[in-house]
Amino acid sequence: MLSDGFGRQFEYLRVSLTDVCNFSCQYCLPDGYQKTHKSRFLSSHEVLNLVEVFASLGTKKVRITGGEPSLRKDLSDIIAGIKQNQHIQTIALTTNGYKLTQNAQDWYNAGLDSVNVSVDSFDEHQFKVITGSSKLKEILLGIDRAIDVGLKVKINLVLMKQFNHKVLGQVMQYIKDKPVSFRFIELMETGDNAIFFNQQHVSPAGIQHSLIENGFVQTSRDKFSGPARVYSHQDYVGTIGLITPYASGFCDNCNRLRVSSTGKVHLCLFAEKGYDIRWGLSDERKHELASHIEALMPYKKPTHLLQEHKTGATTHLAMLGG
Ligand code: GTP
Ligand code: 5AD
Ligand code: SF4
Repeated sequence: MLSDGFGRQFEYLRVSLTDVCNFSCQYCLPDGYQKTHKSRFLSSHEVLNLVEVFASLGTKKVRITGGEPSLRKDLSDIIAGIKQNQHIQTIALTTNGYKLTQNAQDWYNAGLDSVNVSVDSFDEHQFKVITGSSKLKEILLGIDRAIDVGLKVKINLVLMKQFNHKVLGQVMQYIKDKPVSFRFIELMETGDNAIFFNQQHVSPAGIQHSLIENGFVQTSRDKFSGPARVYSHQDYVGTIGLITPYASGFCDNCNRLRVSSTGKVHLCLFAEKGYDIRWGLSDERKHELASHIEALMPYKKPTHLLQEHKTGATTHLAMLGG
């Protein structure tokens, strides 16, 4: 099992399949997202070898990310390939949702267990301003489709002062009868969104306060819980979560490692430095890779709160797959 000197075990691998995205979320890149391929991304074969090596080191959950991973034509094949690995218990996908209606059934059939989808506003105009996309309606239909086909669904909304810090009422209404986990994410500062961050960052404390006032109760957490603190209410089918990366203790139960779309291991979401492991993703050399990955673990820092994020020296979030 991959672990570090702080008692954290890493059973969860996030793999980015592409840096390309068809949306341009304001918090993601100030000048719009990369629309075309500038790099040669991991092939499906390389991804499957990567998963095989990580599985031999104890990985049980794989999350596929991007950019926008559904832009990869071989996404269903990659899901099906990962599903063949007996050690992987959960396959998840993070997506902007624009292909959900069309593909939820295929992805589910290929072996996908869950999807995380961004919905940064319930207002079509505001959604367009934030994401550059006018597909809000389709995305919401896609979420319903995902639920219907049997996928577990989480929804992400990034809190921004100007846009959506007052949406709690709409979210409560939305989750009333829907089996989804809706998470408010505190805006994170990345290397290239400093101005936007300073304008738009808002503390999630207000939301937390209102949740409690409205009778929501925090569910219990253990070291296997994800980054969200989750609140539930007996009158609501769905739950509401808070992801607060700047709160102390946030990193204590970090359980994940990430690999970029060009085959670099990043030990933290905020870590600029990536360790190239692409050389080890060929059939000829994959047997050499496990010990190299184990040797990286001592370099994982106890928390991002002490490291680069305030210096602006961070890699772009989405390129690391969020
Ligand atoms: P699950 O627990 O598998 O549902 O994953 P998740 O909620 O982390 O995945 P998702 O891709 O939906 O990301 C939600 C938010 O959490 C995004 O803003 C990510 O950037 C953030 N996030 C994910 N992993 C980490 C991490 O290791 N550290 C920090 N600081 N933020 C993270
Ligand atoms: N701050 C917080 N969350 C972010 N995401 C992307 N960029 C940021 C940021 N700067 C989130 C999106 C997406 C998830 C993968 O990462 O909500 O759902
Ligand atoms: Fe695309 Fe996700 Fe970045 Fe939005 S946050 S531009 S959907 S990669």
